[in-house]
Amino acid sequence: MAVRPWRSLRVRLIASVVLIEVIMLSLLVWNNLDLIRRAHTDRLRDTAASMLQQIATTSGSYMVEVDYASLEEYLRNIATHPELAYLAVLDRDRRPVIRLGEVPAGGWPAPDRHPSEVRDARYDIATDIVFGGRAMGQVRMGFSLARMQQAIQAARLRSVAIAGTEIVLTILATVLIGIHLTRRLGQLAQAAQQVGAGDYEVAVPTGVPDEVGMTASAFNRMVAEVSQRTRRLQEALARERVIESTAIDGMITYDADGRILSVNPAMQTLFGYDEAELRGRHAALLLAPPPQDHDSDTTLWTRVTGARREVEGRRRDGSRFPMELYIGCIDVSGEPLYAATLHDITERKRAESECRTLLEGNRFLIHKSLAVQEEERRHLARELHDELGQCTTAIQADAELIHDMSQHKDRRVAASAEAIQAVSARMYDAVHAMMRRLRPTVLDDLGLVAALQDALRDWRERHPGTELEFSTDGELGDLGEPVNISLYRIVQEALTNVARHAGARRVRIGLSRRGGRGAGQVVLDVADDGRGMDPDLPRRGLGLIGMRERVEALHGTLRLETAPGRGLALHVVIPLGSAEMTA
Ligand SMILES: Nc1ncnc2c1ncn2[C@@H]1O[C@H](COP(=O)(O)OP(=O)(O)OP(=O)(O)O)[C@@H](O)[C@H]1O
Ligand SMILES: [Mg+2]
Repeated sequence: MAVRPWRSLRVRLIASVVLIEVIMLSLLVWNNLDLIRRAHTDRLRDTAASMLQQIATTSGSYMVEVDYASLEEYLRNIATHPELAYLAVLDRDRRPVIRLGEVPAGGWPAPDRHPSEVRDARYDIATDIVFGGRAMGQVRMGFSLARMQQAIQAARLRSVAIAGTEIVLTILATVLIGIHLTRRLGQLAQAAQQVGAGDYEVAVPTGVPDEVGMTASAFNRMVAEVSQRTRRLQEALARERVIESTAIDGMITYDADGRILSVNPAMQTLFGYDEAELRGRHAALLLAPPPQDHDSDTTLWTRVTGARREVEGRRRDGSRFPMELYIGCIDVSGEPLYAATLHDITERKRAESECRTLLEGNRFLIHKSLAVQEEERRHLARELHDELGQCTTAIQADAELIHDMSQHKDRRVAASAEAIQAVSARMYDAVHAMMRRLRPTVLDDLGLVAALQDALRDWRERHPGTELEFSTDGELGDLGEPVNISLYRIVQEALTNVARHAGARRVRIGLSRRGGRGAGQVVLDVADDGRGMDPDLPRRGLGLIGMRERVEALHGTLRLETAPGRGLALHVVIPLGSAEMTA
C-alpha cells in the first residue's frame, strides 16, 4: 500500500524541522539585529557625548582668551572621528566662531536624544561651554549615521546568510536522515505487509544497531516466532481435522444453549443425519427422550464431568442404541464452546451381556461340578466306610478268632493272626482318615463350626509350632450345604497353604455372620504372619483359583492382602439367601 506524499513520514519530518528552524532563526536574527543596532547607536551616543564633553571643557579657556585660531587648530587635530559630519563652536551670542565639516545651512537643528531616534540620517548634539561658572558659548556636533547603518546592514546580511546556510544545512541533514530512516522504516512496513499476507519467510536487514535496527531485529524475531507458532498451529489443526474426519466416533461442537455448530463425517454414519440437518439444531435431538415419568435432563449437555456417561442415542429413523457420551468445554473469547464425543457401544453392550451370560453359565457349571465333586467324595467315603470298613472289621474279627483258636495249639498261627489284626487296625485308621478328608461326617452331623474345630484340632497336632486361633461370631448353623462345604474347603486349603508356604508362627481364623436369619452375609478371614508373597507375581497352583471359584459360584468375593514379609490375609464374603445356595 503506497503512502500519500503529505502523510509520508519523511515529508512531515522535513516540513516540521524546516518550519521550526525558520521560526527559531527568524526570532534569533530579529533579536540579533536589534542588539546590533542598539550596540551601534549606544556606541555612537557614548562616543559623541564624550567628544562633546571634552571639547566643551577644553574650549572654555580658548573662548575666554578669544583665541579662536588656536582653538580651531586644536579642534582640527582632535576632530578626526570618521563619523563626524560637522563641528561648530558658537560664541555667547550664538554666532559661529569655528566651523568644521558640513555645517547645516539654515539654522541649527534641535539636538537629538539618541541616535536610534534620528530621522535625518545625522545625529545632532550640542552643549554649553562653561568656564569659571560663566557660559562662554556652545559646541555643536553632528555625526553621520551612514557608516553605522552600513555596519548594521552588513551585520544583518551576515546574520541572514548564516541563518540561510543553517536552514539549508538542516534541510539537507533532515532529508538525508529522513531518507535513511524512512527507507528502513519502509522496509519494515513492507515486511509487515508481507507477513500480513502470510509470507513468513521475510527478514528485514537490521543494519546499524540503532532504534530502527533494534526494532528490525525484534521484528525478525517476532516473525520467526509467529511463523513457528503458525506452523505448529497449522499442523495441530491438520492433525485434528484428520482425526475428526477419520474418527469412527461421532464428534460435535455446540454452544452454551446446546445448538450444534459442527459435526464430523462419522455423525452421518452413526445417526443418519447429514451435517446440514444437524447444524443449528439442539444436541438433545441425538438422545432418546427420557421416559415420561422422568424430568428431561436439560443440563446434560453442559455438564462437564471429565467422565464418560452412558446414554441412549436416537437415530434419524427413530431407532435407539446405547452410546457413551463424553463432554468437554473450552473458553473461546469468554464464551464457552462445548465439544462432545459420541461412541456407539452396541457391540460392547452385546459382548458384555454375552460375557455376563457366559459367566453365569460358568458359575453354574462350577457350582454344579463342585456339588458333583462333593457328592462323589461323600459317596466314596460311604463306600469306603461300608465296604472297606466292614471288610477290615470282618478281617479283624476273623483274625481275633484265629488268634484265640490257635493260641494254645500253634504259636506261629497265633502270631500271624496278631500281625493280621495289627495291619487291619492300621488299615482301618488309614481308611478312616481318608474318609474324614473326603467327607467330614461331622460337617453333616454337627455343622460347620464343629467340623472346622475338628479339622483345626488335627492341624494343631500336626503343626505344634504354629499358634492357631479360631473365633466365630453370629448364627452359623443355617448357612446351607453349599456355603458350609465351600467355607470348610477354603479353610482346609488356606491352612494347607500356611503349612506349605507361609512359615507362620500365628494364624487367625475368624468366621462371622452379618445380617439377619436367611439373609445378610457370612465373612471368613484367614490371616497369618508368615512370609507373604508378591501379589503381582504369576502363580502356578490351583488352590487359590479353586477358592475364588467356589466363592464366585456363590456370588461372593475373595480378597487377598499380602506383601513379601508381611503375611497373607484372605477375606471372603459370601452373600446369604440366594437361590443357588440353597439349591
Ligand atoms: N499363606 C501363604 N503364605 C505365603 N505364600 C502363600 C500362601 N498361600 C499361598 N501362597 C503362595 O501362593 C501360591 C499359590 O497358592 P496355591 O494354593 O494357589 O497353590 P499351591 O499351594 O502352590 O499349589 P496347590 O495347587 O497344591 O494348592 C503358592 O505357591 C505360594 O507361593
Ligand atoms: Mg495350595
